[in-house]
Amino acid sequence: MASKTFYIETFGCQMNVHDSEKVAGALLQRGYARVEAPDAADLVFYNTCSIRDKAEQKVFQRLQQFKRGANGKVFAVLGCVAQQEGEKIFERAPHVSLVAGSASYARLPELLARIEAGERRVTGLSLDTDETFETPLTRRDHPHRAYLTIIEGCDKSCAYCVVPFTRGPERSRASASILQEARELAEQGYTEIQLLGQNVNSYRDPSPAGWNFAQLLRQVARVPGIRRVRFTTSHPRDFGRDIVEAIDENPVLCNHVHLPVQSGSSLVLARMQRLYTREEYLRRIEWLKQSPRQIAISTDIIVGFPGETEEDFQDTLRLLDQVEYDSIFSFKYSPRPNTAALALGDAVPDEEKQRRLLMVQEKQRAIQIRRHAALIGSVAEVLVEGRNQALGQWIGRTAQHRILNFTHPDKSASLLGAYLPVLVTRSGPNSLVGEAVTGAVV
Ligand code: SAH
Ligand code: SF4
Ligand code: F3S
Repeated sequence: MASKTFYIETFGCQMNVHDSEKVAGALLQRGYARVEAPDAADLVFYNTCSIRDKAEQKVFQRLQQFKRGANGKVFAVLGCVAQQEGEKIFERAPHVSLVAGSASYARLPELLARIEAGERRVTGLSLDTDETFETPLTRRDHPHRAYLTIIEGCDKSCAYCVVPFTRGPERSRASASILQEARELAEQGYTEIQLLGQNVNSYRDPSPAGWNFAQLLRQVARVPGIRRVRFTTSHPRDFGRDIVEAIDENPVLCNHVHLPVQSGSSLVLARMQRLYTREEYLRRIEWLKQSPRQIAISTDIIVGFPGETEEDFQDTLRLLDQVEYDSIFSFKYSPRPNTAALALGDAVPDEEKQRRLLMVQEKQRAIQIRRHAALIGSVAEVLVEGRNQALGQWIGRTAQHRILNFTHPDKSASLLGAYLPVLVTRSGPNSLVGEAVTGAVV
């Protein structure tokens, strides 16, 4: 067989990004070569997201472009839209040959073999999970930072969210398998590991050791060669003080926690079925703020959930002032198929959602400007992740997950992957600028 080519485009969260690394590995193993444009590919993969309607529409826009003139290309839709829409995708886009959700990727070699044999419509849609935890073929995109899956699926039932339907029930990976992969990553030269899961802190080791998430964190932090461990996402309900204690005791565990709040109003939180009140959430924030490690805190906010009054919304703005997050992601509520909130309609008009979104973003921008300015004059250790030629700066990432771009007398590529102390000299709303403290490579 002449060498065949594939192209893969990924939408959505880190879980999807990492899944695409696994899919790419399986394809490379089968002798496919990767190309960077769909036009040049025999096999075109879209790894999709359906968290909001806009995300879902993207894949159909992409497929539309090829409706005529598919030119013998094979199209595959993977990920959350695949799982959600299933065979309906074939009706909407008849030139698609493969539709498979994330729980089926372990079967990918078999599904691909059927496509190669000329089968026109192949599906992998079972949620009776064939596990994909151990995928030695994974082809990671980043040379220093590696994603590592510790838990799949979600057992919560937030009223607005498709994930329990698209990713299935929660399954934790055995701790020995996680540690084994962490050690392999260290041997391959990775120094930063990001533990992944929809709710990492619901982790419960299925093996007899029975570790909880904090215990797992302590063990991963001990893997020789690993200098930074991050984790995302944590659900506030399952966020115990033992996680903060683990961070306090292990400098390898990064001082950054992403703790999505969604709303500052306990009434809205109850209708969202988030399983915590504003007060319970703020107690967790207190634990984080009391830590001597100066833990950075980020969050997700949804505005315009059905029934969100002006007063509820003001509660969210007040929460932003109270917590002073280091960064946030904010979204307009988007009604989603299968979810409980669908029955509540889409009661807040779009213009009002837009107004609230802008108010949230403006407030947060002012907070970040203030917080970042306070860092001028301090020194932070960065992992060098890239170079911005135009600005003549290196791109660094601090343990708190801030971007700190900096100048350094050495312009050779050898700085990539290094850990360096950088003096912060300027600040903006979204990043910091500084100068390497030379002569002291740590
Ligand atoms: N598992 C994570 C979040 C996964 S989805 C958690 O529980 O925190 C990422 C973010 O998308 C959510 O935190 C939420 O803010 C947002 N989101 C999810 N469903 C949404 C919807 N229907 N409309 C708007 N935003 C949504
Ligand atoms: Fe969605 Fe809620 Fe599960 Fe997060 S915890 S993935 S928001 S259902
Ligand atoms: Fe999107 Fe699925 Fe992730 S819906 S956010 S890709 S889990």
